[in-house]
Amino acid sequence: MYGLIFLYLAGLAVASIDNNKAYDSPSFKAPQLAHRRGEIRKNHKRWEYYDGKIDFPWGIASGDPLSDSVILWTHPLPSTEDPRPVCLEYQVSKNPDDWSNIVASDQVWTTQDVDYSYKVEPTGLERKTTYYYRFVNCAHESNVSPVGKFKITPEEDDDEIDKLALGVFSCSNYPYGFFNAYANAAKRDAIDYVVHLGDYIYEYQADGCKEARHCYGDGQSMRVKTYIPEPNHEIFSLEDYRTRYKSWRSDADLQALHQSHAWQLIWEDHEVANNTWKAGSADSNDTVAGTYYNVSFTEKKANALKAYFEWLPIRTVDADDGLRIWRNFKFGTLADLIMLDMRQYNRDLTDLYYNTDEIRLLREDEHRSLMGGRQEKWFYDRLKNASERGCQWKIIGQQIVFANFAANNIAAWKGDNPDAWTGYEANRQRMLNTISENNIDNVIVISGDSHANWVSDITWENRTGYNTVTGDGALAVKFAGTAVSSPSSWGYNNTLNGYFELYLTRSEATAVYYGINDVRTHNAEERVLATFVVEDKANKLQRPVAGGQLTGGALAQRG
Ligand SMILES: *[C@@H]1O[C@H](CO)[C@@H](O)[C@H](O)[C@H]1NC(C)=O
Ligand SMILES: *[C@@H]1O[C@H](CO)[C@@H](O)[C@H](O)[C@H]1NC(C)=O
Ligand SMILES: *[C@@H]1O[C@H](CO)[C@@H](O)[C@H](O)[C@H]1NC(C)=O
Ligand SMILES: *[C@@H]1O[C@H](CO)[C@@H](O)[C@H](O)[C@H]1NC(C)=O
Ligand SMILES: *[C@@H]1O[C@H](CO)[C@@H](O)[C@H](O)[C@H]1NC(C)=O
Ligand SMILES: *[C@@H]1O[C@H](CO)[C@@H](O)[C@H](O)[C@H]1NC(C)=O
Repeated sequence: MYGLIFLYLAGLAVASIDNNKAYDSPSFKAPQLAHRRGEIRKNHKRWEYYDGKIDFPWGIASGDPLSDSVILWTHPLPSTEDPRPVCLEYQVSKNPDDWSNIVASDQVWTTQDVDYSYKVEPTGLERKTTYYYRFVNCAHESNVSPVGKFKITPEEDDDEIDKLALGVFSCSNYPYGFFNAYANAAKRDAIDYVVHLGDYIYEYQADGCKEARHCYGDGQSMRVKTYIPEPNHEIFSLEDYRTRYKSWRSDADLQALHQSHAWQLIWEDHEVANNTWKAGSADSNDTVAGTYYNVSFTEKKANALKAYFEWLPIRTVDADDGLRIWRNFKFGTLADLIMLDMRQYNRDLTDLYYNTDEIRLLREDEHRSLMGGRQEKWFYDRLKNASERGCQWKIIGQQIVFANFAANNIAAWKGDNPDAWTGYEANRQRMLNTISENNIDNVIVISGDSHANWVSDITWENRTGYNTVTGDGALAVKFAGTAVSSPSSWGYNNTLNGYFELYLTRSEATAVYYGINDVRTHNAEERVLATFVVEDKANKLQRPVAGGQLTGGALAQRG
């Protein structure tokens, strides 16, 4: 009887779907994308929710930390099919062993409409504080999720913060290898936050192995020998994308890194389709559906982005602009992390393989943009603003490789790659102009996408004023990281996977590149490939580059 009264009161007083941000995926103002809370509410009695056992097979996650709030995520699985909402209480505490002093909590529902995704935002948290969180079944207080950890950021004008460490990851292709990179970073726990630059999932058929270089031995990708991610075809419907996220998130290593750190993510092309631009991808657009499915590109994209917002701990940035994920994170006056979207937002036509020559002809076109005018303006304003505020490091988190490999004569990278910055020279020039004209120091561009590590000074395309030996005259520095597990363009090989960690202090920025020895098995081996230092206001790699010491790869000086 007591239990019933408690349930009734809890249901009446607080629990509802209102505070579950999964229904905003991505924005409540975009009816074709978001779920209609009003209609969903009508289908459920306010006091009735599922009272059986709940499992947490896809773990827990936190993300997008600010100086007073964070996004918490989980995805409960009721142990029996039941039409009623599932009610979870999220709890935030400063002590992982003491849940009697809860600093933030709420009972929030999730339903089948969002496939039981659960995304909440505790507020009123203290800046620069480490917190722990968990989710409790409202109907059974002993039915609890694992405990996760996150850090709240400093306030924008905090000038006491003197160190920050980011783990930078990209291109995590489950069937091609184990997520040893995630496991190692979680275990070493040297970073404050995880930054993921996209290709978090892949949309194509998991054991498709379309390209020989992506296959191993018997024509199969590595991991599918033991597990083929669901569904076993290229994904296009909302259900498909949700199912694919479930496959990825069933991985214990990925769960471990989500549990141990708050993430800041941006998407790339494969969260939607291969080589996307604003109105299409390599194999589809709104006149021709893809090779493996029947929906238009726009519909596929809407499904993909909806599932992304349901499954990842990311905020709605602008309710009037459901496509927007470009946003920034401020770490006092030490660093700004400016996260951009070069793929899904407003990118002009890219290389779709059948049009490569045409795109090469358009490379210099001044109207071409990777970001679209609105995002570009915001980006340059943020750069200038960070500089004027006296914010030291400006970290530009974006998807694609910045260097011009053709100019650098790196033949292995298929000459120029018009799907990267090289296909959008005017956009590159506008960014460099902004840095140069405003004398903005300490800009570091970080990238994923290419499944290889690339480190360089950033200069004008024509190298004006740049000394290749000393690095003097450079405008900024670029750190691109290899894939967590996606195969490299150089073949499926050991030590080509990994990630890097970026350590920022008042005197220098240090990038430590980790190589994963083998993603074909689940193992904890990794080694430091190289360590690069950028001194405050130097705007170039410290010489000798990498201290002259590498355990993998090569240093090249190019004129
Ligand atoms: C992307 O599309 C190109 C051109 O159709 C193809 O060669 C490549 O294999 C595709 N990549 C993937 C990962 O499907
Ligand atoms: C759509 O894609 C097909 C090939 O997949 C291509 O032939 C066609 O030109 C594209 N249409 C537009 C409008 O881009
Ligand atoms: C696409 O449409 C064809 C013809 O209607 C149908 O046979 C096929 O099953 C559909 N494919 C998918 C993936 O829905
Ligand atoms: C920087 O931007 C913030 C927030 O948009 C604004 O309040 C502040 O005045 C700007 N500062 C400078 C120096 O432009
Ligand atoms: C090189 O490019 C910069 C930036 O566009 C320009 O200011 C400079 O004049 C160019 N130098 C030469 C020698 O073309
Ligand atoms: C794998 O990498 C090693 C060392 O870099 C290289 O010698 C070898 O040729 C590579 N194998 C393949 C198949 O690419």
